[in-house]
Amino acid sequence: MDNHLLERITHNPDISQPRVVQAAYDIVGQYNQDQINGFDEHFLTSFVELVDLENAENVLDAMSGDGNLTRRMINYCLERQISVPAITLLEYSSVQTELARRTIDLDTVIILHGDILSMKDLQSGEILPDNSFDRVVIKSGTHEIPVAKQQQLYRSIFRVLKPGGVLINLGFLFEDVQERDEFIEITKVKETLVGAMDAVANRYFLLREEFYKFLELAGFKEIRGLTSFEYVIRSEIVEKEYFSTPKLSNAMAELFAAQKRAMTLCNHRRIVFEANRSTMHLPGEITIAVKPQMF
Ligand SMILES: C[S@@+](CC[C@H](N)C(=O)[O-])C[C@H]1O[C@@H](n2cnc3c(N)ncnc32)[C@H](O)[C@@H]1O
Repeated sequence: MDNHLLERITHNPDISQPRVVQAAYDIVGQYNQDQINGFDEHFLTSFVELVDLENAENVLDAMSGDGNLTRRMINYCLERQISVPAITLLEYSSVQTELARRTIDLDTVIILHGDILSMKDLQSGEILPDNSFDRVVIKSGTHEIPVAKQQQLYRSIFRVLKPGGVLINLGFLFEDVQERDEFIEITKVKETLVGAMDAVANRYFLLREEFYKFLELAGFKEIRGLTSFEYVIRSEIVEKEYFSTPKLSNAMAELFAAQKRAMTLCNHRRIVFEANRSTMHLPGEITIAVKPQMF
């Protein structure tokens, strides 16, 4: 294994405040997405295994945030002496894109500040070509897209996949509409406190039947859930990652109040309170969908 390379791609420097604030995740800045969601190393490695990198030449890490999944995919390959495929990161927040650029430096990785809905590089205006990728991987991204644009999202992914290519999506996936609607209300409170107002307006958490229908309408086949899991979101980690500045000192009280209003989630023990802490257990799924050879 090339230790120098590993060091370069896992280096995680501090980043200064953004000069231009646009997207929700510009405001969020540096944070640990996996820790917030309660994902451990074993779970994340098993997710990367499902991407089947051994058999992929071109991978799109879409809605990639700070590039943590790409870093993990690269490390996975290096540790197993698998050749690293060409990877394209596509991320809407310029701040998250910059974090990825500062921590990933490999010739086979392209980092684009871009929009998944148009598959456009917002800097150059170039659009990712049809039939380019063997895999499109999304980790905790689809809920950032408003319901009116959800269908466009899966059509865009379908377009850039090669025939036979696979979407591997890890995301929230609800069965119960009331649970879903209550969770949307809780996240609105959190995003308002953080100041991420476009997330307040846009976020949409999918029901399984909606998600599978969107995929089907986009042309995907062999749609199936590979793993069901729970997002485990602990209030103390939310506080540390989002609300640690003094001006947000009242944030936890507001968040707890929002969680207590979520009667169904509480009754179903998806929100559990203990002393001055809470833990949310929310449903998620790793789903795969294939672009057929003939479509
Ligand atoms: C919850 S974060 C997950 C980031 C990353 N996948 C991870 O697991 O750490 C969702 C990301 O989607 C990005 N995003 C939102 N809308 C987008 C769009 N239209 N195109 C590309 N990325 C988008 C956000 O900026 C944010 O970084």
